Amino acid sequence: VMKTTILAIESSCDETSASVVIDGKVINNVVATQSVHEQYGGVVPELASRAHQQHIVPVVDQTLKEAGVSKEDLSAVAFTRGPGLLGALLVGASFAKSFALGLDIPLIEVNHMQAHILAHFIDDPKPSFPFICLTVSGGHTQLVLVRDYLDMEVVGKTRDDAVGEAFDKTAKLLGLPYPGGPLIDKYAAEGDAKAFDFPLSDMPELDYSFSGIKTAILYFLRDNMRKDQDFIKNNLADICASVQATFIEMLMRKLRKAAKQYKVKEIAIAGGVSANSGLRKALEKASADYGWNVYVPDFQYCTDNAGMIAMAAHYKYLRGEFVGQDVSPMPRMAL
Ligand code: KG4
Ligand code: ZN
Repeated sequence: VMKTTILAIESSCDETSASVVIDGKVINNVVATQSVHEQYGGVVPELASRAHQQHIVPVVDQTLKEAGVSKEDLSAVAFTRGPGLLGALLVGASFAKSFALGLDIPLIEVNHMQAHILAHFIDDPKPSFPFICLTVSGGHTQLVLVRDYLDMEVVGKTRDDAVGEAFDKTAKLLGLPYPGGPLIDKYAAEGDAKAFDFPLSDMPELDYSFSGIKTAILYFLRDNMRKDQDFIKNNLADICASVQATFIEMLMRKLRKAAKQYKVKEIAIAGGVSANSGLRKALEKASADYGWNVYVPDFQYCTDNAGMIAMAAHYKYLRGEFVGQDVSPMPRMAL
């Protein structure tokens, strides 16, 4: 029996990544991170596109080589169609299209947000349907009701900033380099989460808002720095712990509400912020308190990676969901 071997490419933001999936098993996940953005305090789209252009051939080469797969073995090529930065998406899309055309094999488009959720099917334990996934990344904060691999409904979302953005912007105010989320996580581990109080903003239904809290943090820091120039330096761990605890409580409130509303106890988190140790702890506690079965992806599959794109591509391949050469990236692609 011929094996189904798919090459998947991710280039939506600042990671160039490729992965090979054989008969539904993700074989590897090669990621080239772009350090060029650190000095600018955020991803510079033009530089991201250039770096993807430089990385994509070596990353794909290494992925195929590592997996022991030759181009002739490939059954299909998959790529991230959106959401993401247009110039960055174009590099992956153009590469995948050329590859598929040259090898005369099918082309599969993947929704990046759907892929973040399908990362849960790479390794055991896997959630059972229906489950609720809190997808938290630099660009998104969504509560998704997942009925099947490719049947998902957004039941709650942020009305302004994403929580990852709130982490990164807070880090910037604290003078930390981009991306600041992991650094806040690190300093928070040594701090007192009750040291400072920040307002929990509330939105109707299952929606979120993270712009108000961002402004509150800005004023809090400004006022305290006026009184004590070294306020941030002297209180970094406590500030990080307090801010992180506030973000997490905001996330957990709506997650609890969604679980109740949809009577679901299978709960997953996905996206870059699901790497956060405080959020993971809060989820474990909720698991004990409410009898939830909780699912957290392996670290390498939390932040952007092609392994999750490969997993999504596998399910689309099984359903024969292919696209033609006229496909183009969708920077604002909805789930
Ligand atoms: O999913 P992702 O890699 O890219 C997007 O699609 O946006 O998410 C990146 C986001 C960044 O905002 C980053 O600061 C955040 O995930 N992040 C974290 C942690 N690790 C990554 N935020 C808090 N704690 C972490 N440990
Ligand atoms: Zn992402």
